[in-house]
Amino acid sequence: MSAPATDLSAAGAPATPSGRRQILVTSALPYANGQIHIGHLVEYIQTDIWVRTLRMHGHEIYYVGADDTHGTPVMLRAETEGLTPQQLIARVWQEHKRDFDSFGVSFDNYYSTDSEENRVLSESVYLALKEAGFIETRDIEQAYDPVKNMFLPDRFIKGECPKCGAKDQYGDSCEVCGSTYAPTDLKNPYSVVSGATPVRKTSTHYFFRLSDPRCEDFLRGWVSGLAQPEATNKMREWLGDAGESKLADWDISRDAPYFGFEIPGAPGKYFYVWLDAPVGYYASFKNLCEKRGIDFGAWVKPGSKTEQYHFIGKDILYFHTLFWPAMLQFSGHRTPTNVFAHGFLTVDGAKMSKSRGTFITAESYITTGLNPEWLRYYFAAKLNSTMEDLDLNLEDFQARVNSDLVGKYINIASRAAGFLIKRFEGRVQDSAMQHPLLVQLREAIPQIAAHYEAREYGRALRHTMELADAVNGYVDTAKPWEQAKDPANAVALHETCSVSLEAFRLLSLALKPVLPTLAENVESFLSIAPLTWADAAKPLMSAQPINAYKHLMTRVDPKQIDALLAANRNSLQATEAPAASADAGKKAKEAKKASTESETPDTISIDDFAKIDLRVALIVDCNVVEGSDKLLQLTLDVGEGKTRNVFSGIRSAYQPEDLKGKLTVMVANLAPRKMKFGLSEGMVLAASSADEKAEPGLYILEPHSGAKPGMRVR
Ligand code: 2FM
Ligand code: ZN
Repeated sequence: MSAPATDLSAAGAPATPSGRRQILVTSALPYANGQIHIGHLVEYIQTDIWVRTLRMHGHEIYYVGADDTHGTPVMLRAETEGLTPQQLIARVWQEHKRDFDSFGVSFDNYYSTDSEENRVLSESVYLALKEAGFIETRDIEQAYDPVKNMFLPDRFIKGECPKCGAKDQYGDSCEVCGSTYAPTDLKNPYSVVSGATPVRKTSTHYFFRLSDPRCEDFLRGWVSGLAQPEATNKMREWLGDAGESKLADWDISRDAPYFGFEIPGAPGKYFYVWLDAPVGYYASFKNLCEKRGIDFGAWVKPGSKTEQYHFIGKDILYFHTLFWPAMLQFSGHRTPTNVFAHGFLTVDGAKMSKSRGTFITAESYITTGLNPEWLRYYFAAKLNSTMEDLDLNLEDFQARVNSDLVGKYINIASRAAGFLIKRFEGRVQDSAMQHPLLVQLREAIPQIAAHYEAREYGRALRHTMELADAVNGYVDTAKPWEQAKDPANAVALHETCSVSLEAFRLLSLALKPVLPTLAENVESFLSIAPLTWADAAKPLMSAQPINAYKHLMTRVDPKQIDALLAANRNSLQATEAPAASADAGKKAKEAKKASTESETPDTISIDDFAKIDLRVALIVDCNVVEGSDKLLQLTLDVGEGKTRNVFSGIRSAYQPEDLKGKLTVMVANLAPRKMKFGLSEGMVLAASSADEKAEPGLYILEPHSGAKPGMRVR
């Protein structure tokens, strides 16, 4: 056999004299304030397939990841949940790790950016940049929340659009009229955190001087090594023409309160999350090196012969092709060998949508009982080396898994194994191993491996399925079920089954980077060692009988897809339409369900939202309702000079005395409703789990102190 071909040009990889490459690979670090969903999985599956491909060549390759833990959103989310940031990120780390394990994402190390290694590395990168003259300070004026005593990132400020007057618009653009503007242009701005009117406040910020001519010179050279023409073009656009110096300095500091690392020598100033996030790649790798005795310094020093690749989404190209290589270059490190960006995921041709149930979390996919390798296969079939978006079409998903994977590939084994076990003690016919069909398959393996390495997974799988077609054609012609009828055909039957099974082994090898769990089951069924690319040339042997065939993969049942979409719609109902009075809550859920089953837009307009009058309400009085074990009767002050009567289905969660004197939030403009016990004049908001049986509990909303009855919630 010839040595496996590798497409070095696609990877831009330096060839090493021994042929054994040393490769560090990363995927973007997910934020520690959200769940892993199928949009994330595109990237982790893409990276994992690549890593497994190179591991199967026997290279020394390490795949590292971590949670991206720092920044204002994590800090505020922790506060909302009544946790410390450390408690929040510890919980989310467990969830993320669980999801990656479920989908076979084979990190060598999964770490956290909130680690000692990352603090030390981030500080040393910063100090080296400072020493080399790349850091400067400048005073800048920013929006400040005088109640929360914190500077407000743009996304935490809302107000009225300066053009059309629409309320509750973010500080950069109006969702109603589409105009863009600066946060300072908003009319009647308010802090999303406290509701207070932001004031302007000056503070000193630290900048990385990307505009330094040394950066520009370096980046102009570095760009020429990028593998993707789209990335090169983007970078050239950012860099501008020679001498144009279009690069702006980068603000790398944030003021306290901020969850992150304090900047050395700058009390109260913290590294902006995007500074320590990519350094987190190195921190995770350093942690791995410490555990495994690898020489970290040799991998990251300038001129290192090792390779370093970052898989990312196209939205974060700027950080990975400008800031990150420049930070590395001027802090005394090697720079990335390449950055591989992928496109965005759509589902059934549209953006992932919570109302349609297509905002699918990794957890829901697993708990609904779908096989993670179906999704790995489907994404691989759709992936190539470009930044094109890819679509998960749910009908196509079922068709491909059922007809390609199970129909064409798995069935080869199930058809051949029975005869081999029953008639030939599970032993192949050694002379059959040189059959021309098998020679054809063996020759194709290095080409398929090269497609994977060039990140042309769709091509690799198309080629593999063409080979599966050829094998099925061979079986259909030989007709083993006919051969089996006449004992005189025993030798021919033995050959057919042996060729089929060896072909199945080779197809399993071709699919192994995509379907690692299946490949493991195939290896134990065939009683062989873990497959590597070199094993293409090592056929099955009569000396090593196979084991009894056990079903390797089931088909997708359309009901599973329905259940998956329903599970993701339900989670939305739980977060968006939490129960108010039990009755009204149930109605809201029913209405929501009915509307999502018909045509529901992904979003509502601000005008739709503005129709709901949410108010802070003081619970002046609260009583049980005779004759009802579900309801409490609330007397609410909504700042109208009179009280309102509301029945709410929260008796299972609260005693009347728990609630008296507390503030809550109510829908004040819900049409009054005549109930058996009297008139209900509104509805209070409460949160509950998507699956109330599995996770009971009902929690009414309570505003932060300072809110007054009658205040508008928006
Ligand atoms: O965009 C994101 O989700 C970031 N958390 C990615 C960080 S990648 C790296 F630089 F850390
Ligand atoms: Zn507008």
